[in-house]
Amino acid sequence: MKFRSSAWFGGDGQAPFSHRAWFKSQGFAEDTFDHDRPIVGICNSWSELNNCNSHFRELAEAVKRGVWEAGGIPAEFPTISLGEPFIKPTTMLYRNLMSMDVEEMIVAHPIDSVVLLCGCDKTTPAQVMGAVSADLPAIMLTGGPMLRGQWRGNQVASGTDVWKYWDQCRLGQLSKAAFSEIEGCMARSNGHCMTMGTASTMTSLVEAMGLTLPHCAAIPAVDSRRMAIAQQTGRRAVELAKEGLRPSRLLTQQALENAITVNHAIGGSTNAVIHLLAIAGRLGLPIGLDDIDRLSRTTPMIANIMPSGKFLMEDFYYAGGVPAVMHEIRDLLHLEARTVNGRTVGQNLEEIETYNRDVIRPTDNPVCPEGGTIVLRGNLCPNGAILKQSAASQKLLCHRGPAIVFDSREDMLDRIHQPDFEVQADSVLVLRNVGPVGGPGMPEWGHMPIPQKLLEQGVHDIVRISDARMSGTSFGTNVLHLSPEAAVGGPLGLVQPGDIIHLDAAHRRLTLEVSDEELTRRREAWVAPSIDAPRGYLRLYLQHVLQADKGCDFDFLRGSSPERCDLSAK
Ligand code: FES
Ligand code: MG
Repeated sequence: MKFRSSAWFGGDGQAPFSHRAWFKSQGFAEDTFDHDRPIVGICNSWSELNNCNSHFRELAEAVKRGVWEAGGIPAEFPTISLGEPFIKPTTMLYRNLMSMDVEEMIVAHPIDSVVLLCGCDKTTPAQVMGAVSADLPAIMLTGGPMLRGQWRGNQVASGTDVWKYWDQCRLGQLSKAAFSEIEGCMARSNGHCMTMGTASTMTSLVEAMGLTLPHCAAIPAVDSRRMAIAQQTGRRAVELAKEGLRPSRLLTQQALENAITVNHAIGGSTNAVIHLLAIAGRLGLPIGLDDIDRLSRTTPMIANIMPSGKFLMEDFYYAGGVPAVMHEIRDLLHLEARTVNGRTVGQNLEEIETYNRDVIRPTDNPVCPEGGTIVLRGNLCPNGAILKQSAASQKLLCHRGPAIVFDSREDMLDRIHQPDFEVQADSVLVLRNVGPVGGPGMPEWGHMPIPQKLLEQGVHDIVRISDARMSGTSFGTNVLHLSPEAAVGGPLGLVQPGDIIHLDAAHRRLTLEVSDEELTRRREAWVAPSIDAPRGYLRLYLQHVLQADKGCDFDFLRGSSPERCDLSAK
């Protein structure tokens, strides 16, 4: 068998001599290259500035164990890492950059297959996008969620409970001292957020689309089974190199539809919609917002995990994890789709059971009869908007109210808690110029805080509309991702204070009740905000980023170039 890496390491002559010599500088035995062995790249998004991925060096060691065991040679390499807590203004600004790093390093290096180590929100889609475009045999290893947060006998959920306790603190119901005690009790271990936020959603979806070994997503980061599945993943990566099983052969329309369906069934993060559309764009698959909505209508939400439900990822693992969810909804899945372990989805689901019917519900007793995330259309969002109905207030899903308009996040923060801020429980908060271009980077600002005045009146949710995203751990009636965004001329930019906005989730409508003639007049008077970057990555970003309904990828990154992996080995 001739591996791609033999173009670097095989045969006689000065070039292979040098390549082998440099590699052996790391302390490898003389005969390391004498056997026909594939080189398995381990693409590691480890970083101490990304706490969610900070345990990945140990994880990579377990992968290497598996690679050696199966007769391969492991070679770990770093890429950019994107940690949600620290990167400003938002990791989303850099997702495409990370995907380019992943793609280019796979293409450029002498490797035959790759194990991708991901965890925190953007690291997963960035790696899938890069790996898909490079199209070298690839398998993903997710880092696993943190253990449940625990404080004085209470469960503390990442993100989701922070907002709850912060609201209690603002109302004087929780002391400052108690609030800071919670700080040390929330993130108790390595791992990514343990709610069904974006990280747990995306790691679950890569399992659902067949890019990880079964059960990978839910195993807690610090459980010994995490290291065990890392070892098995390493072994499998060696076989993938021999079989030449490329991502493009796994990620078919069926596989992506399975991922969308599972996203609805787990009440997954709204961000998953953007990432799935971007991945589909790399694969050239005709998947759009209408497919997301179509599958939401037929898929019950059965995973009872926060923020849409009440349990956490640790409970999800004990209940059976992603395979158990897929088994419950197997009638809705494409069971013939192939997965990275060489078996079909249907074969992987044989002998799968659910161990806790409260955490993973049967389809006849769902948490929500429809999928978590729905797509809205109307004159305010001609190219669509997103609402996570499973995390919204039922009574607000059909709502008509007057708009309060914020032109920027600063504007919102300046006014929203002022005692004289004029807001009612039926007001609709509108935040604009915070989309892919306007943000820039489409920050997670769509989950605007409840105005202090309303909070004191006992109001905990109102309708909020924006061209931003929100954290997967957020809850509330937040209409997001309005497309096109205000900064590029979308109708959100034409809303005026007091305009009536009508949200009708059942009919998937979002309407600005202003006449077409009046909107035309306002459009003629509209002045585009000046958003520019004189140089550097931001300039590239602003020139090429697509709108949310296309997954916010760069226009020039859509598609794949599998031939580059073959050519670079020449
Ligand atoms: Fe990394 Fe939540 S901060 S997953
Ligand atoms: Mg998040």
